[in-house]
Amino acid sequence: MRILSCTWVVALVAIVVALPSRRSNLVLHEKRAMEPVDWVQSRKLEPDAVLPMRFGLSQSNLHRIEEMLHSVSHPSSPSYGKHFSPQNIVDIFAPSDETISAVTNWLVDSGIAKQRLRLSASKGWIEVNATTAEVEELIDAEYHVYTHPSGAQQISCHSYSVPEHVREHIDLIQPTVHFLHRVPQPDQIQKRSLGEFGKLDAAIHGGPKTNGKQVTITPSLEHCDEMITLDCLRALYSIDYTPQATDKNTFGILELTPQAFLQSDLDMFFANFSPSQVGTSPTLVSIDGGVAQTEQQGFNFNGESDLDLEYAFGLTNPQPILLLQAGDLVEGASFNNWLDAVDGSYCTFEGGDDPTQDGIYPDPLPGGFDGPESCGIIAPPFVVSASYGQDEGSVTEAYAARQCAEYGKLGMLGTTVLYSSGDDGVAGNGGICLGPDGTPSRRGTRFSPDFPVTCPFVTAVGATQVNPGSTVNDPEGACEQVIFSGGGFSNFFALPDYQATAVTSFLTNHPPPFTSAQFNNSGTVRGFPDISANGANYVVAVAGEFVLVFGTSCSAPVVGSMITLINDARLAAGKGPVGFINPALYSDDFADSFHDITTGGNQGCGTPGFTATEGWDPVTGLGTPNFTTLLSHFLALP
Ligand SMILES: *[C@@H]1O[C@H](CO)[C@@H](O)[C@H](O)[C@H]1NC(C)=O
Ligand SMILES: *[C@@H]1O[C@H](CO)[C@@H](O)[C@H](O)[C@H]1NC(C)=O
Ligand SMILES: *[C@@H]1O[C@H](CO)[C@@H](O)[C@H](O)[C@H]1NC(C)=O
Repeated sequence: MRILSCTWVVALVAIVVALPSRRSNLVLHEKRAMEPVDWVQSRKLEPDAVLPMRFGLSQSNLHRIEEMLHSVSHPSSPSYGKHFSPQNIVDIFAPSDETISAVTNWLVDSGIAKQRLRLSASKGWIEVNATTAEVEELIDAEYHVYTHPSGAQQISCHSYSVPEHVREHIDLIQPTVHFLHRVPQPDQIQKRSLGEFGKLDAAIHGGPKTNGKQVTITPSLEHCDEMITLDCLRALYSIDYTPQATDKNTFGILELTPQAFLQSDLDMFFANFSPSQVGTSPTLVSIDGGVAQTEQQGFNFNGESDLDLEYAFGLTNPQPILLLQAGDLVEGASFNNWLDAVDGSYCTFEGGDDPTQDGIYPDPLPGGFDGPESCGIIAPPFVVSASYGQDEGSVTEAYAARQCAEYGKLGMLGTTVLYSSGDDGVAGNGGICLGPDGTPSRRGTRFSPDFPVTCPFVTAVGATQVNPGSTVNDPEGACEQVIFSGGGFSNFFALPDYQATAVTSFLTNHPPPFTSAQFNNSGTVRGFPDISANGANYVVAVAGEFVLVFGTSCSAPVVGSMITLINDARLAAGKGPVGFINPALYSDDFADSFHDITTGGNQGCGTPGFTATEGWDPVTGLGTPNFTTLLSHFLALP
């Protein structure tokens, strides 16, 4: 009792003393990205409720990521390929003592006793348990309880502020504005059933026919405008390479539970297209209880994983593949979960995930994974392909920036991260665009870019098609069947140096017929995608049948496979993996590595979208790769 009253006296005095100097110099730090849909603000949070507050400290040297990445990734840099070590990364980005004391002093001056503060082991976060009343006063916020029709509840404030002089020392504060809307979805791959299975069968098993002359086109290549197979892709992109250094190489495919592959589907695909691989399985890397579940089956549960693994295995045979399966069956997972798993410094050093966006482990929900969070359980694979995304406008800029910096660090470590660019053209997931405030809205008319592809430290992969009636020897167009290649310009991220010439040239020479009300046309923001590959009519074995699959989801693992083969050749030659590839892709030396795509567009938001044209464009990027040429350029680098 005495202790309690003592605490009260201390707290009251502190508030009285600190009040006048505090409010006056607070500046807005973050406000909620998007108003909750289906959630009702039910009441103010009780003033004596205790909140587990965490103050994310700014890391040092974040502004130097681009420059440091450039030094190891630009073909003309003397330190090309000399990637950083994990310890270098920790040391370079650790928050400075100045940052730690600035935030500590602010909290103590505001009346929070120093003994209540805890600096996380990695120095990334300052943690404190504080009452709602204390926090509301401290950061000028108002907390409410929100209720969902399902009965679920969460707390959130609409915005919060910090003093001007500590602003630069804080990334973000939790729990505050970050609100759970939904977990990221796989890009909406679409399927069509394969009308005549007999036709496919003949194409596959017929084998090359001969009339005594040399046959250069196998029967399956005659139908690549209707059905894409491994052979179509090999012909389109001149892929003719057998891996030699598979034991040194690593290739990871991300899947978010409950999305899962079926071994019977892989075997059905292999039996038809790559017989030596029947029985081959990926190596499961279980992240936060991740399981390749088999209880729920069908296109929506198996389509993405089956597609990714069938094509990645087929194109890189005999390279083993790491399946980064993230999230348990109850809670699922998001991008920060796999990032934690491949970089222990991200979860321990930066302190953790955003409970509103990411799976939080151990999972408190019944039946959930109750083991510890998967933190640094494997080294980052040399290539990671992820065919998942969410609308950039559904996350806060601070959240996106923190995750984007992590992709930059993976690039510095020597990892290539590929994300598909989305399947709704210039619109967001499900064809939804942005309202005037920049958040997703059914009546919105502003283009809605995807995240994380807009992060300048990932390689964004768009989709093309073999135009109807054309062959693999004709130029492809932007994908305009079933899906439209995601592309456009970020509302968060600045134009990276490596892309400046390409984007400026596009906006100058082919100015799009839109205004700044539709997209940021200032020429100072990141454009995407970077590169593309076929995304229409993939023959995929899913849930026991062959179906045709469409989407940038097809394109990302195909480009990932090509980079994996390039890494193989480099490893076999005693060199390192290529890591972050964008500075090389956009360099003059690599210009002949692409088939420029100049037809088709990416409609959305009630417009025809952007139009593919000569040079880089925000539909197909630099174009589709010529693997042979790309390989020779990367192999020539140190
Ligand atoms: C906050 O309270 C929880 C529950 O009592 C405790 O586990 C945690 O260590 C406390 N955190 C701090 C920073 O004191
Ligand atoms: C476009 O981006 C630039 C650079 O981030 C920014 O200054 C400008 O306000 C943005 N324009 C619009 C219309 O959002
Ligand atoms: C790819 O480039 C090589 C030369 O580097 C060329 O022989 C080949 O025809 C090109 N492939 C395609 C599909 O254009």
